[in-house]
Amino acid sequence: MELDLLGDRQRTHHCGELRPSHAGQKVFLAGWVDRRRDLGNLIFLDLRDHTGIVQVVLNPAVSREAHDQGEQVRGEYVVGVEGEVVVRKNETVNPQISTGEVEIQATRLLLLNEAKTPPFPLDDVARTSEEARLRYRYVDLRRARMQRNLRLRHEASLVVRQHMSEHGFIEIETPFLTRSTPEGARDYLVPSRLRPGHFYALPQSPQLFKQLLMIGGFNRYFQLVRCFRDEDLRADRQPEFTQIDVEMAFPRREELFDIIERLMEKLFALAGVKFARPFPRLTYAEAMERYGSDKPHTGVGLEWTRLELPESASGALKAAPSVKVLRAPEGKHFSRSQLDKLQDLAKASGAGWFSYVKTAGEGFQSPLAKTVGESAVASLARAAGMTAGEILLLIGSKSDGPSTINARHLDEASDVLRRELAGRLRPTPRGAWNFVWVVDFPMFEYDEKERRFTAMHHPFTSPREEDLPKLETDPAAVKARAYDLVLNGQEIGGGSIRMHRRDIQQRVFKALGLTGEKARERFGFFMDALEYGAPPHGGIALGWDRIIALMAGESNIREVIAFPKTASAVDLMCDAPAIVDPEQLDELGIQIKKD
Ligand code: AMO
Repeated sequence: MELDLLGDRQRTHHCGELRPSHAGQKVFLAGWVDRRRDLGNLIFLDLRDHTGIVQVVLNPAVSREAHDQGEQVRGEYVVGVEGEVVVRKNETVNPQISTGEVEIQATRLLLLNEAKTPPFPLDDVARTSEEARLRYRYVDLRRARMQRNLRLRHEASLVVRQHMSEHGFIEIETPFLTRSTPEGARDYLVPSRLRPGHFYALPQSPQLFKQLLMIGGFNRYFQLVRCFRDEDLRADRQPEFTQIDVEMAFPRREELFDIIERLMEKLFALAGVKFARPFPRLTYAEAMERYGSDKPHTGVGLEWTRLELPESASGALKAAPSVKVLRAPEGKHFSRSQLDKLQDLAKASGAGWFSYVKTAGEGFQSPLAKTVGESAVASLARAAGMTAGEILLLIGSKSDGPSTINARHLDEASDVLRRELAGRLRPTPRGAWNFVWVVDFPMFEYDEKERRFTAMHHPFTSPREEDLPKLETDPAAVKARAYDLVLNGQEIGGGSIRMHRRDIQQRVFKALGLTGEKARERFGFFMDALEYGAPPHGGIALGWDRIIALMAGESNIREVIAFPKTASAVDLMCDAPAIVDPEQLDELGIQIKKD
């Protein structure tokens, strides 16, 4: 096929902007052929560019040459169209597209490039595998949805930069080739050629750099920044992802919350969403008690409470040190097999036992009746405030083993069950935006495998002042000045007020088992910096991909990232990670272990 040259022709308009007010104008458009319909005498092309679609008519009575060219054209060919904008007759108006009242009578058609048949139909993503979409991402990106999502992301980043700048934050870039920053994941390592055997780590976040910028006197910093974490991936996690990273000197938590809430307000306005401010607060302890999770979807209701068991309770029931109950309204919808499934879920998550009570006429029905008797079931149901039609779910912790671990497992089970119920009973209504700040996190959590305390946020988070004496005596009871921002059950941000004093930082390292040489080797530069006049400071990082996905109504962050990785951290398009030349490894002094 002979192709035409674009030369120095320039587009006069974009496809999506043409309206009846353009009627009579001569235009030159260029883009991709979205669809071609050959009616014999007339050929119609839907011409697509980044702004939308417009119909082009190739009429031999207007230009035989253009019509002949049109016979060769196929979907996704790149063409240029010279022609005139005409208003369509009433009966041919297409209300589905914004340019549906007009069409282009082509006087010339330039074939700028051919295209192979696309690997999948662009208008039928539901039946396209994600593998195909990611392998041919450049084709997938042409779809209106991807175009919309990435343009939204761009608009949103303008809002962030404007907003943060208005509040005195300046954007400063921090290094990618650096040392490990502990955020709880594995590092991506980059070998050094000049110092064989030495490695840079890609930052899991710019945490230490932003703190150093506060010590460096910048007062307020932000950055739209890529972070790298080698961790198990899910719908809301990518190995490289973007944060809006924020830090301020002499911080007041309430001021930071206000700045972030106003930012959320401006961002979500781009998606036509409004919500009330200030956002509610929930302490970590309350969140775990009521929802079993530190990132609860508060909009779906379904809250757990504690219940005193009746005196008559016996056996496993009475032996359980801790029992949580939840009243779900649509009890009649729970079949025996569904209840069995809930029981399996509860047990798999670590609950000691599971049971339920249903209303039956005036009374109650429960498998518990066999062990505790009908009247105990009735008093239990009344104590829980059950009304007709409801079902009461009960879970109890295990009675053997360490009680703190059992309690944690009970919380996990209450979270899993609540999510299962919410999915079934209360699909999130579109347009419900439930923001919540979760505050007062514990400073440490106990790692059962490693048998030591680890930092719940990161080791630079400050303990509450009143808890400082407990750092050495009762670390489990120390609360941190940390906070998370949760939206519809997703953690979209996290941060804290930091330690700005070396002595306290050192005590926290010690509580984490990081002492002497080890602490010096990893964080010596930072400990030194704390001795040169570090101001009180604190900040937050927001998960940018997650926020955009929520704004765009997408359930997977891959839909708002141009070139994401698969769930196994592979770039299918470039085929990365890849094997490298032996010479490259040699230069780096690296030898790959066989098997
Ligand atoms: P944190 O680790 O909580 O905090 O990260 C901040 C936010 O980043 C998002 N996020 C991710 N998004 C996509 N893929 C991932 N793998 C991923 N991991 C995290 C989440 C999370 O809330 N330095 C601290 C912040 C601070 O203390 O100021 C930090 O990085 O939405």
